[in-house]
Amino acid sequence: MHVPKIVEIKKVILETKTVKTFIFDWKVENMVPGQFMMVWNFQDEKPMSISLIDPIRNEIGISIKKVGEFTEAVHSLEAGDKLGLRGPYGRGFKIMGSKILAVGGGIGMAPISAFVEEASKRGLEVDLVSAAPTREELLFLDRFKNNKANLKSCTDDGSHGFCGFGTELAEELLKNERYHMLVACGPEIMMKKLVEMADKYKIPAQLSLERYMKCGIGICGQCCVDDLGWRVCVEGPVFWSDELKLITEFGKYRRDASGIKHSLL
Ligand SMILES: Cc1cc2nc3c(=O)[nH]c(=O)nc-3n(C[C@H](O)[C@H](O)[C@H](O)COP(=O)(O)OP(=O)(O)OC[C@H]3O[C@@H](n4cnc5c(N)ncnc54)[C@H](O)[C@@H]3O)c2cc1C
Ligand code: FES
Repeated sequence: MHVPKIVEIKKVILETKTVKTFIFDWKVENMVPGQFMMVWNFQDEKPMSISLIDPIRNEIGISIKKVGEFTEAVHSLEAGDKLGLRGPYGRGFKIMGSKILAVGGGIGMAPISAFVEEASKRGLEVDLVSAAPTREELLFLDRFKNNKANLKSCTDDGSHGFCGFGTELAEELLKNERYHMLVACGPEIMMKKLVEMADKYKIPAQLSLERYMKCGIGICGQCCVDDLGWRVCVEGPVFWSDELKLITEFGKYRRDASGIKHSLL
């Protein structure tokens, strides 16, 4: 059941200088935005969010940012090359309420874009804050041009859209609009601030957490978080803000493959 399926890369989309989206034929059944796949390049295997779910064409997309050995190797692949995929795994976003604020920071836009497309399809009103350091690094600008979601880009240097951090734009929106739900994925420091805002404006929030993963299916214990021991690959990666507040390491530190703590502050 958890054996990777060897699949051909159907298409590669160059999103930015460092991010590519890989499209695969995949039977989309019971797949929920926010879930992830384990991607195997026949040498190593890493978790990646599902960034596109197309139930009509039975296609999925995985958007990968080049940050190290594995992601560089995958970036060198082309349409027709093969990868191993297993999944979908983990708990995704629950789609509820009628007006939603979605915030994606950097590559965190990957699961958020799949969520926003599904929520818009179901007729929900979505304001989408897409944040990146510069215009060149903003993801999926074209993809959201024709989507019903209200895209609000923001860049740290002001080269496109709102000038400032995603959290600043989110706070402006929260002050002026009444949302039923906040969903977010991005740097943990950003998510920590968003959890505080969700508390301040009294709205439920779901956020996707990243931890080092090995098995992806709850066996190895690598992704367990302090103090509760929840496995991010099974109980997450999407958590409610009230759950995140119980995770004592949230916003403070994360562990590497050896279990050594690395401060996020
Ligand atoms: C649930 C989940 C969803 C993710 N979704 C995406 C996505 O959609 N797109 C994307 O580009 N990246 C995603 N990542 C992160 C991605 O797994 C890492 O960037 C990738 O594994 C880096 O591998 P590397 O060898 O290129 O870099 P390395 O040099 O090995 O690592 C760079 C950094 O990536 C992280 N990382 C490395 N190995 C792992 C691992 N096995 N598990 C988790 N983190 C790791 C660590 O923070 C490390 O410091 C996701 C991670 C998780 C846990
Ligand atoms: S990665 Fe093995 S338990 Fe989560």
